[in-house]
Amino acid sequence: PNQKRIAPSILSADFAKLGEEVRGVIAAGADLIHFDVMDNHYVPNLTVGPLVCEAIRPHCTVPIDVHLMVKPVDRIIPDFAKAGASIISFHPEASEHVHRTLGLIRDQGCKAGLVFNPATPLDYLDHVMDLVDLVLVMSVNPGFGGQSFIPSALDKVREIRKRIDASGREIWLEVDGGIKADNIGAVAKAGADTFVAGSAIFGAKDRAEMIRRMRSELGT
Ligand code: DX5
Ligand code: ZN
Repeated sequence: PNQKRIAPSILSADFAKLGEEVRGVIAAGADLIHFDVMDNHYVPNLTVGPLVCEAIRPHCTVPIDVHLMVKPVDRIIPDFAKAGASIISFHPEASEHVHRTLGLIRDQGCKAGLVFNPATPLDYLDHVMDLVDLVLVMSVNPGFGGQSFIPSALDKVREIRKRIDASGREIWLEVDGGIKADNIGAVAKAGADTFVAGSAIFGAKDRAEMIRRMRSELGT
């Protein structure tokens, strides 16, 4: 878990010039592009789907990290795989059959991620650790950018880090919500290796400088 990754969330980008925004943060040092998909059903907001993922794909020289906040989840998975997603994560509460959904994502050739809301128990990991490539811990309730980091997420990250290490598998541990230059170090110390940041990066005057600051907090 030495490699650290910074994943700007396009939720805080200017959607009127998304291709340019994506190219800009990649040039500024992004390791992944975090793509938030909301359906106004599972979460109280509505964003973008496979069509927009496909549209940014030619602008993306880094993997696209799709975070599905939709219910139901299964039927949209092949569309995102075709649209160029490298990672597809979903919330277990939004799937009728978590094991099946994880398999579906991997069958499409993508890395499969399971997402934990602030109040979601970690039990969902118990019987599927061998099918999970990434665990995403929400440090805000999903639905909006620009919310404040919920500190109890750190305990969750520590607990998941133990489980990942015990599994012996190479599973990424990503944290999403309220990540800034002044808390990213603590999140890394708790055991995370992949950091989503929307408002902190897209809201910065100098995005490259912000990513550099975050990386220096990570000690990389
Ligand atoms: C929230 C999304 C996040 C969001 C993060 O539901 O999943 O990815 O864009 O935004 P910030 O970094 O502003 O909290
Ligand atoms: Zn997200």
